[in-house]
Amino acid sequence: MKNLAYYNGKYAPLEELTVPALDRAVYFGDGVYEAAVFVGGVPFGMGDHLARFERSMGFVKIAKPMELDEVDAVVRELCRQVGGEGIVYWQATRGTAPRTHTFPENVPSNLLAWAKSKPIGDVSKKLTLITQPDIRYKMCNVKTLNLMPNVMASQAAKDAGCDEAVFVRDGYVTEGSHTNMHIIKEGKLITHPNCELILPGTVRKQMLELCAKLGIEVIERPFTVDEMKDADEVLITSSTSFIRSASTLDGAPIGGRAADVVERLLSAYIEWVERETGNKIK
Ligand SMILES: Cc1ncc(COP(=O)(O)O)c(C=O)c1O
Repeated sequence: MKNLAYYNGKYAPLEELTVPALDRAVYFGDGVYEAAVFVGGVPFGMGDHLARFERSMGFVKIAKPMELDEVDAVVRELCRQVGGEGIVYWQATRGTAPRTHTFPENVPSNLLAWAKSKPIGDVSKKLTLITQPDIRYKMCNVKTLNLMPNVMASQAAKDAGCDEAVFVRDGYVTEGSHTNMHIIKEGKLITHPNCELILPGTVRKQMLELCAKLGIEVIERPFTVDEMKDADEVLITSSTSFIRSASTLDGAPIGGRAADVVERLLSAYIEWVERETGNKIK
C-alpha cells in the first residue's frame, strides 16, 4: 500500500480523505503535530514523539483527542498497513467549530494521521545549507501547525539549490527550517540549548544520548554563524534526515574535518533504529 490516512475514526487513502472546512486547523492552523519514520512497517522513537505531542498539546491547551496509547495504536496500524519504509504524520486540532479566536466550548479535538511510503534513502549524503533570518516567535519549542516562516525559509533554500535553511537570530544559529543544527569542534559537540527558540528535536535528544554512550562531550550553548563556518563538522538532525553532516553554507565549503565522529554517531543511530524497529533499513 502506498499510503493510508485516518481522521476521527475513519480510514481512507490519503488522496481521498477530507477534513471539514471548520476544523480549526483549516483557518487558524490551531493544532500540533508529530512526524516519525517507520522501517519495515514499524515506527521509530514513538516514546519521544508521543511525549512531545503531549507537551505540545498541554502548552496550547488542546485536549487529547484520545489517550496516548490509543494514538500510538492508530499510528502503528497505519504504518503496519502501509509497510516498508516511510513517514508517519499525525496532528491534533482544537476541534471543528465556527471561526472565533477563543476556544470553542464542549467541542472534541480532532486527530488526523497518515502514513506514506518513502525510502529512508542515503542518510550519509551531505547537505547544502543557506542562512536565513529567524523571524519566528518565541513558541518554537511547541510543534504547532503554524510554520509560515519555516515554509518561506525552506523554499528560499530550494530556490538557492540547497537542501536546508539555517535560521539565524542576532548572529546565533537557532535551528533549521525543519531540522536541528549542531557543530563539532575539537571533538566536542555544541548544540543550542532547548528553550523557546528551538524545537526540542527527538533526534537531537537521541543523539545526545548516543554522545554520552560514545564518550563525546556535549556543550549546550548557542553558537554563532562564524563558529559554524569554522566548525570541524556541521551536523543536521531530524526524524527523516537522521544525523547528517553539511558540505556548504551559503555556497562556501564547511566541515569535513571530523568525518570519524559523524560516522560513529550515524552508525550508532542506524543500529538503534534497526534494533528498535526490528527491521533493517533497505
Ligand atoms: C523546526 C524543527 N526543528 C527541528 C526538527 C527536528 O525534530 P525531530 O528530530 O523530532 O524530527 C523539526 C522536525 O520536523 C522541525 O520542524
